[in-house]
Amino acid sequence: MKTQSIDHLTPMQKTLLITLGGRAADALWKRPILHDPLATEIVAHLDHDTLRLPMGVREAVAIRSRMLDRAVAQFVRSHPDAVVVELGAGLETRRYRVDAPPTVDWYDVDFPEVTELRKSLLPHRDNVHAVGVSLLDPRWADAIPGDRPTIVVSDGVLGFLSENDNRQILTTLTDHFTAGGELVFNAYTKFVARQNGRFTKIVGMPADFTGYGIDDPQDIVDLNPALTFVEELYGDAAPERDELNLAYRLMSRIFAAWPAQARRGVWIVNYRF
Ligand SMILES: C[S@@+](CC[C@H](N)C(=O)[O-])C[C@H]1O[C@@H](n2cnc3c(N)ncnc32)[C@H](O)[C@@H]1O
Repeated sequence: MKTQSIDHLTPMQKTLLITLGGRAADALWKRPILHDPLATEIVAHLDHDTLRLPMGVREAVAIRSRMLDRAVAQFVRSHPDAVVVELGAGLETRRYRVDAPPTVDWYDVDFPEVTELRKSLLPHRDNVHAVGVSLLDPRWADAIPGDRPTIVVSDGVLGFLSENDNRQILTTLTDHFTAGGELVFNAYTKFVARQNGRFTKIVGMPADFTGYGIDDPQDIVDLNPALTFVEELYGDAAPERDELNLAYRLMSRIFAAWPAQARRGVWIVNYRF
């Protein structure tokens, strides 16, 4: 693996450093939650100073990665002919964490600059395909088979785009993937989305940047009625919370019984199409 410059990336593209940094920091922690040494290896090969992540980001990223990994692992176990689509893949390493049958094809969608970086930094795997296209291009799914059971997974992406962008992306999704499947992603409440710039300014995003938030999982169905809401999961109620320190464990227990508050933490939503 050669050291790669990332100076050419836009601030939006550099947000990948935050989630990657969270996974790498977790791997170096004394009691890792996610255990992803590849994330640390990738960080070491980026010509960039290590980010100082705001408090709680390491834990939140590790927990939501585990929750999304579980959803994908479960889907590919019951659909060995599945297609996994990672929206806004960044330098995400899920493909190397989830044990998928060799018959599963994995499509990593992100801007061309980012997919090039992925190709130079991540180990080659058969059945892994880079799709360098903006999700704002209505043809973003054209290179991906639409006639196999599909799980579309997205971590830290849809909440960075506008409501209209989300409507368009989700419409392309349900129009293209006609064999049906699941959409699973981490959602932000409107309150949390308004605070987005506080976290993303460390990579050059405007401090007043606000993302897209929802207050009810049904809001996504209102954007695209071809989606059916299946379930929501809270990081505060996930088994991983027991691996946190005592203060976080106590807080999680209280928040888990209080949905409006739990949704402000790690909030995973799952839909069928
Ligand atoms: C916060 S990062 C998350 C990256 C990755 N999912 C992870 O967990 O590490 C957001 C990612 O979304 C990508 N992204 C943002 N807008 C996009 C768009 N319009 N089309 C494709 N990718 C986009 C960025 O390039 C970046 O890689």
